Amino acid sequence: MKDNKLLTMAFESSCDETAVAVIADGREVLSNVISSQIDIFKNYGGVVPEIAARHHLENVNHVMEQALTEAGVTLEDIDLIGVTEGPGLVGALLIGVATAKAVSFAHDIPIVGVHHIMGHIAANYIQFPELAPPFTALIASGGHTNIAEVTGYTKCSILGSTRDDAIGEAYDKVARVLGLGYPGGPKIDKIAKEGNPEAVHFKRVFLEKDSMDFSFSGLKTAVLNHINSAKQKGEEINRADIAASFQQAVIDVVCQKAVEAAKKMNHGKLVLAGGVASNTKLRETLRKQCDQEKIELYIPSAVLCTDNGAMIGCAAYYKYKEGKEGDLCMDAHANLPF
Ligand code: KG4
Ligand code: ZN
Repeated sequence: MKDNKLLTMAFESSCDETAVAVIADGREVLSNVISSQIDIFKNYGGVVPEIAARHHLENVNHVMEQALTEAGVTLEDIDLIGVTEGPGLVGALLIGVATAKAVSFAHDIPIVGVHHIMGHIAANYIQFPELAPPFTALIASGGHTNIAEVTGYTKCSILGSTRDDAIGEAYDKVARVLGLGYPGGPKIDKIAKEGNPEAVHFKRVFLEKDSMDFSFSGLKTAVLNHINSAKQKGEEINRADIAASFQQAVIDVVCQKAVEAAKKMNHGKLVLAGGVASNTKLRETLRKQCDQEKIELYIPSAVLCTDNGAMIGCAAYYKYKEGKEGDLCMDAHANLPF
């Protein structure tokens, strides 16, 4: 406890970011250190789970020390340890969980395991001090695509999910076939600004009437088929036009479903979360549609959209406040239900 504030140190290592943050009273970020492995995985065209785990192991102690130093505190000041326990790459998660448990045991600090998606949602509490549940949330990341109703700081029910690829996964795969490199989301975001979103009409997949589920694998295949058929005919490919047209097909569906869900849940608030929430066109489009429908839209800054420790610390804080403490039997889970 420092200045009467509860200090949480939180670990996030579910994919390719080794991240540790120190936050005060759940919402005040004292440090948020992120060591990204993007430069390593550029050479592979995607994340290699074993290599990611090895780098987490090499980095985690340094990242933790930096987080403590930047926050101006020591382990003696920490009141609570938070850690992502799943879902994610199990070898990667294990490094965060094992480190968090070791610190918890050695310094006798309570520990709380966090569901990664609850962490993404919690990024909004940090960005917007006035935000409180209930609200509707769209979680759009590399591993998840969900529409959820958040009824409490630790209570959330899933209204819809992807039936195949996650939205970020679709961005990354399309970027790969366009030769844009990894990670594809930011590359498509950038190049699409120079393209015509109506150049190629890719089918919008809404699924059954009123369904809040998503499907992106057909769209990904349609992009691949379009490129292959153009190549066979010897036609030149305009990467910016294809990227813009793909992105428009994704955004048309995602925004319509999210806004419809927000209207149906009737809380007047829509919260965006996850790495894809940093997408420029998605943010702009949702902003316009929410303004028209008089729905308050919350989107975190880009650094809080992608994986980070602060969002995990915030989610851990609220679990702890509700008495949902973990213990040293905690494990890492590749698949973790809500
Ligand atoms: O939330 P996140 O950091 O990790 C997961 O929990 O999966 O999300 C990473 C995903 C990647 O697929 C990445 O390509 C995508 O977010 N992404 C973007 C943008 N920035 C990151 N997708 C579209 N536009 C962006 N600007
Ligand atoms: Zn994530």
